Amino acid sequence: MNRAKHIAIIMDGNGRWAELQDKKRVKGHEAGAKVVKEITTYCSNNDEIERLTLYAFSTENWKRPRLEVEFLMKLLDNYLKKELPVYLQNNVRFEPIGDIRAFSKSLQKTIKMVEEKTAHCDGLVQSLALNYGSQDEIIRAVNTLKSAETENITLEMLNNALDCKHDVDLLIRTGGDKRLSNFLLWQAAYAELFFIDTLWPDFTTKELEKIIKKFKKIERRFGGLK
Ligand code: FPP
Repeated sequence: MNRAKHIAIIMDGNGRWAELQDKKRVKGHEAGAKVVKEITTYCSNNDEIERLTLYAFSTENWKRPRLEVEFLMKLLDNYLKKELPVYLQNNVRFEPIGDIRAFSKSLQKTIKMVEEKTAHCDGLVQSLALNYGSQDEIIRAVNTLKSAETENITLEMLNNALDCKHDVDLLIRTGGDKRLSNFLLWQAAYAELFFIDTLWPDFTTKELEKIIKKFKKIERRFGGLK
């Protein structure tokens, strides 16, 4: 049976969740942050899951209204500071991916602080994708290799130059849309994809459990034959 060693999630539907209840969109993000905590804790208690990568802010999300962007930045900063003890209690290592140089100095400091303080944790690795886009990640990797003046770039070399060096086993998108939105395009080459209608703030560990159960039964051939 398959093992869901690396789960990646596109956490979509926060805005719609809030609007359905006549609330401001940012209330959906707040509710979404609680689900981030629940799902991370669940994964940290599941021995087969080694990595959980969550799409928290894309390179394209800067196009949103300034106030929403500012709210997301503040929410992230508060989340990381508040949840640091929970990362430590659950032995979760925090490994951000994406180009965080675009964030404020103080948010970068918080991100680095949590990364450093959890560096010794050897349970689940939780990666938040922050100012992340696959295309940007690949371009940065190619430029790093180019400046090292290597001749022929191999698959392994490019893989190792990426922010996320780990193939995804199971990729889930909540919120009803069926697209990858520039998330882990390289790493998801052979991922099993699950698109579900549930809006992210309504996503539960029960639903994740059901998806993992279905994932386990899929025949994964990686381009070969069974
Ligand atoms: C997509 O929903 C979600 C985001 C752009 C941000 C994800 C953020 C969170 C889950 C909360 C904060 C996370 C952390 C780690 C503190 P959307 O706004 O695009 O929803 P919509 O499609 O309904 O408009």
